[in-house]
Amino acid sequence: MEEQLQNEVETKLTDAVIARLSDDADPRFRRIMQSLIRHLHDFVREVELTEEEWFEAIKFLTATGQKCDDKRQEFILLSDVLGVSMLVDAINHRRSGATTETTVLGPFFVHGAKEINNGDDMAAGWKGEPTYVAGRVLSTEGTPLAGALLDLWQSNSEGSYDVQLADTGGKQLRAKLRADAEGRFRLRTILPTSYPVPTDGPMGLVLDRMGRHPMRPAHLHFMVSAPGYETVVTHLFVKGDPYLESDVVFGVKDSLIVEFKRSESQAEAQKVGLKAPFYSANYDFVLRPADEVKQQAARAASDAV
Ligand code: BEZ
Ligand code: FE
Repeated sequence: MEEQLQNEVETKLTDAVIARLSDDADPRFRRIMQSLIRHLHDFVREVELTEEEWFEAIKFLTATGQKCDDKRQEFILLSDVLGVSMLVDAINHRRSGATTETTVLGPFFVHGAKEINNGDDMAAGWKGEPTYVAGRVLSTEGTPLAGALLDLWQSNSEGSYDVQLADTGGKQLRAKLRADAEGRFRLRTILPTSYPVPTDGPMGLVLDRMGRHPMRPAHLHFMVSAPGYETVVTHLFVKGDPYLESDVVFGVKDSLIVEFKRSESQAEAQKVGLKAPFYSANYDFVLRPADEVKQQAARAASDAV
């Protein structure tokens, strides 16, 4: 009987907090807050959170915020490691037909990479395995998207992004590239390698306590856009990488795993401005019309009512 009374007190508190939400609040915000409060209270009840654990959580969130600055985003990392980023991605980019699948943006995207020409080397001056990447940007109907913009970024051969290194002399291993009149793009770079997400902050400790490794399989980041089409934020993953099955941020999708083929042929290497041995990969990005995306969102919103 006493236990039942206690349960009622605990549930009434949830109802009371939800009831304080104003009817005048923005409807979407109201819906999100109602659900957040309900799930958060359910979680606290389910695990019977102790006061020590509650304070640990406060300290953890404080440390996560304190680790953030203009070059470091520990909250994105938290979301990535808990699979929330990929869940948001899955809900917002439900696959349709041939459209290229999306994956996490990650914390290392930087606006304003320099524009390079087709065939240029985006890793000029960086040590690593010479690599050639080429392909096309197409619409879902197969039309080449001339002038489509590809924004690329990657880590160096030791697994670090420029923003993680001191004194790189500006943006490095990043480039913007425009598809030609046939929707084709090509560039030279170095082979990406697998690397750990930053572990010198609160997320490093949490991964360790969960008994998880911090590794991401080797990949090249792409953001591909064209006027009138939905922008695709994605990666190309290197086939054969040992971490494809256990990416720390759950970002791998089969359709994004690509063979980076090794060649010893000097003649083949010369054709693309490289020296053998070198690696090459080919991939076509497929974008869907933006109005199709709007229609899908409208359908989803009406289904949710
Ligand atoms: C990245 O691929 O750059 C990345 C994604 C999520 C967390 C950390 C890094
Ligand atoms: Fe990355």
